[in-house]
Amino acid sequence: MTTTLLTGIAELVTNDPSTGDGSPLGVLHDAAVVVDGAHVAWIGPAAEAPPADRRRDLGGRAVIPGFVDSHAHLVFAGDRAAEFAARMEGVPYDGGGIATTVAATRAADEDDLRTLLRARIAEMRAQGTTTVEIKSGYGLTVADEERALRLAREVTCETTFLGAHVVPPGADRDAYVRLVTGEMLAACAPHARWIDVFCEPAGGHAFDGDEAREVLAAGRAAGLGLRVHGNQLSAGPGVALAVEMGAASVDHCTHLTGGDVDALAGGGTVATLLPGVEFSTRSPYPDARRLLDAGVTVALATDCNPGSCFTSSMPLVVALAVREMRMTPAEALWAATAGGARALRRDDVGVLAPGRRADLTVLDAPGHVHLAYRPGVPIARALDWTAGH
Ligand code: NIG
Ligand code: FE
Repeated sequence: MTTTLLTGIAELVTNDPSTGDGSPLGVLHDAAVVVDGAHVAWIGPAAEAPPADRRRDLGGRAVIPGFVDSHAHLVFAGDRAAEFAARMEGVPYDGGGIATTVAATRAADEDDLRTLLRARIAEMRAQGTTTVEIKSGYGLTVADEERALRLAREVTCETTFLGAHVVPPGADRDAYVRLVTGEMLAACAPHARWIDVFCEPAGGHAFDGDEAREVLAAGRAAGLGLRVHGNQLSAGPGVALAVEMGAASVDHCTHLTGGDVDALAGGGTVATLLPGVEFSTRSPYPDARRLLDAGVTVALATDCNPGSCFTSSMPLVVALAVREMRMTPAEALWAATAGGARALRRDDVGVLAPGRRADLTVLDAPGHVHLAYRPGVPIARALDWTAGH
């Protein structure tokens, strides 16, 4: 295996508190990294770097662990720009537009969907994302959900069955829940690591607490890990259910009760915040400070989808978290990297240390604070020898 020595790293964020300054970000200055194949072989001060087969000088830039985008919906056709424009004139988001994307996605042929998906992955890598979770949920038939997951599996091992995204227009609710937990789950489980459900009684299109529990229980019985879309539009039962059932993550957490915060603080479920959604739906942001101050593990992700938030940019999400949710730049970066890894129950990504994946993201900046300090400027990119998942 060829080893590569990376030098010229003005600031290296490792997320390994036993390294560097001892903070949660484990920051080293004037650092070097040796990469051996897909893994980190050595990290330390540049002055102590061991020899390697190749050498590359990063010119005084910062290096961070690649972003772990633990929540995205990338297998779809069409867009909903008109819905966005209407929203900016006051029409509220309620998830009803999902049906538009379902129709466009069903009508798309497989090669076109693959091309769209791969373009979105490339767009993410160009902005520093090296691990991405991808959900189905725009097929809502056995064949269309299976197809979405098969395509997603080509680009990531973090695939999530979201047949319980909404009840398709015209379908009988009970019959649809039986389909999702029966034939559709059986067809999709072989291509999925996770199952997710949009638990939102207030929306009218999604699933209530009892339905969501049924979906999660069936997924667990099929060997899938659990994730929940919860408390996006109202302080519904999603967070409590996710914690009770031991879900890896509950995502959105926009409307929380005190009981929800206590449950998250006492449980093993990560709270994944998606501030791009509040930005794009002009909604109040989640109370990240309350969660962090209660000791909850917080992750940040894009939720990239054509309806509630069509951004693929983790740097934008970090900037929103800092500016709008009062996370510190360090908290936001941790949540977008190590936090995402926790939400996916991964310990090989989100942290840079010997033996972990060499998923390195370079910033055209001397330090990580620039991610929020230079909003909208494309300073982050994944280093090109890392694997695409
Ligand atoms: O996470 N809330 C449910 N699902 C997506 C939005 C899907 C859509 O509007 O197309 C979300 O926000
Ligand atoms: Fe989502």
